[in-house]
Amino acid sequence: MNNTNNYDMNEYIGKVRELVLSMQKPLKAHIKSYGCQLNFCDGDKLKRLASEMGFELCEDELQSDLIVFNTCAVRENAEDRAFGNIGFAKHIKEKNPNTVIALCGCMAQQEHIAEKIKKSYPFVDIVFGTSAQSHFPELLYNKLVFGRNLCDITEYNDGINEEINPLRQGFPKASVPIMYGCNNFCTYCVVPYVRGRERSRNYENILSEVKQLIKDGYKEIMLLGQNVNSYDGDITFPELLRRINDIDGDFVVRFMSSHPKDASKDLIDTVIDCEKMAKQIHLPVQSGSNAVLERMNRRYTVEKYLEIIDYARSRVPDFSFSSDILLGFPDESREDFEATLALMERVKYDNLYTFIYSKRERTKAALMPDCVTEKEKSERMGELLALQRKITTESYKRFMGKTLRVLADSESKTAENWLLGKSYEGIIVEFPGDKSLLGQFVNVKINNTKNWAVEGVVVE
Ligand code: 5AD
Ligand code: SF4
Repeated sequence: MNNTNNYDMNEYIGKVRELVLSMQKPLKAHIKSYGCQLNFCDGDKLKRLASEMGFELCEDELQSDLIVFNTCAVRENAEDRAFGNIGFAKHIKEKNPNTVIALCGCMAQQEHIAEKIKKSYPFVDIVFGTSAQSHFPELLYNKLVFGRNLCDITEYNDGINEEINPLRQGFPKASVPIMYGCNNFCTYCVVPYVRGRERSRNYENILSEVKQLIKDGYKEIMLLGQNVNSYDGDITFPELLRRINDIDGDFVVRFMSSHPKDASKDLIDTVIDCEKMAKQIHLPVQSGSNAVLERMNRRYTVEKYLEIIDYARSRVPDFSFSSDILLGFPDESREDFEATLALMERVKYDNLYTFIYSKRERTKAALMPDCVTEKEKSERMGELLALQRKITTESYKRFMGKTLRVLADSESKTAENWLLGKSYEGIIVEFPGDKSLLGQFVNVKINNTKNWAVEGVVVE
């Protein structure tokens, strides 16, 4: 690691490890992540660091000697949840004053949050931003040895740490970050401020990581980045997909998120032509109104967006798309909202992730006037969800009688001896099956549809 002034992460890992292992009883660490899959990847890296520093990982924060809150800043409710949990940690610390409490991730990267923590949550021992992740061992060492409360929200802008291998939790599914940061500055979004500018991993590192994961038995590779289409690690993103597709083994590849402004025909062709690629693209549109898209600084129009959809569907008529919709952007009119409904009717998304706009400090949208009331926003959300239910109920009927290839990944929580999995189209599939099928690909013949999943039976 060569980021700041010859800082040597491994040296500090070793120093903390020595201390931790010299204790009379094993020390435990609880690491809780919030937010998106990229942040959960960071959480898995923190788990690796904690375990190399000699801690046993622990699900129960009440039993833990080190508690790390790896936070998200994308919406206010994520921050509220984190503050709620930090408040609870105060009681843990009252019972066991030696517990070390750390706050990190996107929320911690913001100066006003670091200030608030210092002032109102003085029992938090360590604060570090997304950029200072590799400094966690150093901060912890200084806390344990000198009792210093420390905050490091420096923006190191020092490339990518390839040294920390995430301690993955979700076998047989593995997330692989391919790039970090974002250059787009959508006017509502805090991500460029808390995750810095785009940095792509070298493609050879990605390929060798994926090869190793496949050797280790992983069956689903999820490539992650704030905008995978601007991946630039010496080859283009579609080329990276083709090279991953060429790796031997039976596995499925997904990716997210893909910014519509640079989704190309090459991307669509690659997804359709490469047999290991999931037959689905998550293409967040945010709004169906050109006026709103412009104020969001999304840099595409509805017409341009539909060209991509239509191109995919000219090759595969019922190609599956999913999307994010951001409702209630400042001054979104009834007409703007209806344009979003019309777009949904036109595209017929198989899955939709919907969010009500949340004002974020430092963003341009935070300064925009807004005359839409909260009541109107939540009414619109109800209307939009009802429409999406109708769309999925209708469009899932296309799977009736078809056989889908599904990676069985969990047991049903509601029906005994039923399993859940995801099809190549990204659809949730429920089917009767024995636990021994978990982690395997199965062919499921669909005989029933719901508005959020389809059901079927395993066939040869
Ligand atoms: N408020 C609500 N939702 C947001 N998103 C990003 N920023 C905000 C915000 N300020 C949503 C967008 C994005 C998804 C990951 O989160 O829809 O695609
Ligand atoms: Fe945020 Fe836009 Fe970057 Fe996505 S592309 S992380 S919405 S700024």
